[in-house]
Amino acid sequence: MVGYRFRVCKGRLWKQVGLGHYFLMIVICLSLLALLFIDVIESWVTCLGMSRPEGPHRAVLPQSIPPTRSEEFLLMPSSRVCQRAKPYLVTLVATAPANRKARQAIRDTWGGEVQVRGHRVMTLFMVGQSSDLVLGKELIEESKERGDLIQGRFTDTYANLTLKTLAMLGWARRFCPQARFLAKVDDDVMFNPSALLHYLDLSFKTSEDELADLYLGRVHMQVAPDRNPHSKHFTSEYTYTGTVFPDYCSGTAYVLSRPAVLKVSLAAAAITLTRPLLPEDVFVGICVHRAGITPAHSPLFSGGPAVPYGRCCYQTMVSVHHTKPGDMLRYWTEVHSTAPCSWLGVRTSLGVCKVRALLGTLLGKSL
Ligand SMILES: *[C@@H]1O[C@H](CO)[C@@H](O)[C@H](O)[C@H]1NC(C)=O
Repeated sequence: MVGYRFRVCKGRLWKQVGLGHYFLMIVICLSLLALLFIDVIESWVTCLGMSRPEGPHRAVLPQSIPPTRSEEFLLMPSSRVCQRAKPYLVTLVATAPANRKARQAIRDTWGGEVQVRGHRVMTLFMVGQSSDLVLGKELIEESKERGDLIQGRFTDTYANLTLKTLAMLGWARRFCPQARFLAKVDDDVMFNPSALLHYLDLSFKTSEDELADLYLGRVHMQVAPDRNPHSKHFTSEYTYTGTVFPDYCSGTAYVLSRPAVLKVSLAAAAITLTRPLLPEDVFVGICVHRAGITPAHSPLFSGGPAVPYGRCCYQTMVSVHHTKPGDMLRYWTEVHSTAPCSWLGVRTSLGVCKVRALLGTLLGKSL
């Protein structure tokens, strides 16, 4: 190695290794750099591809927001839960009545945190009504015991997910005006409030920004409606006439600031719901678009594909999809019982797990 560098210094590299090797070295160096800064590259590429919203950009008058009635919720914590806890971030987890294990894993890990980076945080679960009577009773028990369930008045099915999100927005609007940020997270997602707050602290430093609109997550661009009537995500031409949806954040995990919650609610109230409902995340994307807000992309949200486990990678990612309850407990313990990763550790681990996730998606399996 020393001898090699010596020759480089003497400027005899060209003669020694030839043109091909020289280029190979450049390619290797560039690849290594790309690996270390893969998130920066991803942000940049996404920014280039994003479209601008056309809607109006103005403040929302409080009286124009549709009111939320308490009767819309069959179960919920005390209506003063936010008044007491004063959360900076409230995370609402979309969960199905039967997914008790997933809820418990979240309570035992990231959902159990109440203070993160000097901010109060709170995690609650949003469910619909179960058609199974036994499950329905169990939910009431769970709610009494844990006090962290909100139940909306709709049948809890996949086709009704958009109603769940509307219920979340409605609940946050009325019962949690204290929260500056609302995160919507699925129950199979390993969420990382600390990583999110780090990002928000960096982006929302000045008080002026407090009123800013934020819609943050993994941005999906140029997605065409699925016109196959047998598909889970079928969208009829009647429901959506366009050829592509506006850019939207993956529904696995996204964040809205309080002003964005109000504007999205206002836009949502103006849309007539037709069956089949639009997918939840697409629906929010359309509302955001109409409200004149631009989605913000963060490479730290995994979106759909699974991200292979890496300690430093998981310490840095805000959300990781497809995490089973058992794995969530295991990863959380390991990530939180060890020292914070070094700069190089984070860079390398993030690069490696992102490349593995990408290859996994391309090859259709997890590596
Ligand atoms: C959605 O919820 C409504 C209200 O509970 C119910 O009438 C409807 O059948 C549900 N739709 C689907 C497709 O599950």
